Amino acid sequence: AAVVEHTFVVSQVNMTHLCKETLVTLVNGQLPGPVIEVTEGDSVAVLLVNKSPYNITIHWHGVKQWLNCWADGVPMVTQRPILPNHNFTYRFNVTGQEGTLWWHAHVTCLRATLHGAIIIRPRDGASSYPFPNPDEDVPIIIGEWWEMDLDELDRRMRDSLFDDNPSGATMNGKFGDLYNCSGAKEDGYVLNVEPGKTYLLRIINAVLFSEYYLKIAGHKFTVVAADANYVNPYTTDIISIAPPDPQIPKLVTRGTVWYSTGHVSSNGTAPPVAPEMPDQHDTMASFYFHGNLTSLNDTQRLLVPERADESLFITVGLGSICRRGQTCKRSGSNESILVATMNNVSFQLPDTSMPLLEAHYYHTGDMDMLQELPDRPPMVFNFTDRGLIPWGPKEGQLEPTSRGSLVRRFQHGAVVDIVFQGTAVMQSDSNPMHLHGHNMFVLAQGVGNYDAARDVAKYNLVDPPVRNSVLVPRIGWAAIRFVADNPGVWLMHCHYEFHFSMGMAAIFIVEDGPTVRTSLPPPPLELLACDP
Ligand code: C2O
Repeated sequence: AAVVEHTFVVSQVNMTHLCKETLVTLVNGQLPGPVIEVTEGDSVAVLLVNKSPYNITIHWHGVKQWLNCWADGVPMVTQRPILPNHNFTYRFNVTGQEGTLWWHAHVTCLRATLHGAIIIRPRDGASSYPFPNPDEDVPIIIGEWWEMDLDELDRRMRDSLFDDNPSGATMNGKFGDLYNCSGAKEDGYVLNVEPGKTYLLRIINAVLFSEYYLKIAGHKFTVVAADANYVNPYTTDIISIAPPDPQIPKLVTRGTVWYSTGHVSSNGTAPPVAPEMPDQHDTMASFYFHGNLTSLNDTQRLLVPERADESLFITVGLGSICRRGQTCKRSGSNESILVATMNNVSFQLPDTSMPLLEAHYYHTGDMDMLQELPDRPPMVFNFTDRGLIPWGPKEGQLEPTSRGSLVRRFQHGAVVDIVFQGTAVMQSDSNPMHLHGHNMFVLAQGVGNYDAARDVAKYNLVDPPVRNSVLVPRIGWAAIRFVADNPGVWLMHCHYEFHFSMGMAAIFIVEDGPTVRTSLPPPPLELLACDP
């Protein structure tokens, strides 16, 4: 196995799109950022040189970081942020994982421009894919272009002032002919293909808020993997890729599949017209897409534990909180701001002197500031089967909510079930829940209210898809199971940036196991070097 080295220089660069010059923060001046290409079993070392004015950390989204929580890249959870004019080297390996993951900044909204693909190829070459050898392999990153300062965008979200939209959607950084400004046309992304060849598209949704659907006119896809886990081949003409948000106006980006023979369709007929895309409020298209995925059960890797040691029921939704103190009684008045919650608590990082992972490792008193995530919501949750309630906040629609540094501790090896229930108070309630450091079995999903008596019977314990993120339907639920076997302090949060910034998050602490090989090793020296 090799050590794959990269240097990521983070700096601000002027880019012109849609006839306007915008200052953006990029890695090595690229958008999307550099691709990390490795073979399963390799080690990766990324030297991050921060020449931007921001504090930065990079998260390796979906990389398991087995016994390596220190490299997970969550500011003040696993490390101190890397200050302007400072460097830091991330070291991790990709043992036991194959497929497509990605990296992104884990600081405010900066991930809108600080992201790139991670491609992990099988050790034994392409012939060991559990599907016919692709002729070529192409990353496709769906992105968004924001003209406003992303740090400012984050502040506005935290203060509920958020009513901003990106000015366009991109494919591998290109806008396409749907975007014009004063006659100047933007180039679209072009995928050059040859008839009869097979292309492995590695599709990543790197936007802040929206779920995207992907179609290629006149073609079908066979889905072979999701979140770097193989799935049973599933043929579809549409791909859905989270994070979703029906609230944001529908953005479209269009690229071209260009055949070497000059035909734009595979069967030589006239070039197809642009495919018809689902409506922006059509979350069912994605519900069915995800519901059709099952794990490719040909490896010993898929061992679903038969029962759980503990079960959590977590509502994910929106609430209101008083701007100052306890003086407001009415939710939805100007006195209150909108927050996002889990079991009716809005997460905030505790004001600790050291990152939580260090505090946990050294058993400092900082950990006392954390508040236990309850097993279930404190009151009857505010789900309504009246369906969509238009964007509020209106009196009575939002639960008064508190803030807390939610944490849940798990014994090493505990099998944990979580039912995530979307509370559907508002339109923006779809939630791609992402767990750091672990994969999850997605046992079932459903529409409406979860009912254990009825729904446990639906659990797929045979070939559930293995994911690092699960899409909780807007008015519905998803049930997952995971084994808490990777010691450390891990974030679990909605990957929809609006929800995350507003507090839809919790910390999962996995305790050490009985042996050195099941315990968190001491922090790497360079991490401690960042200590003031
Ligand atoms: Cu991709 Cu905590 O995130």
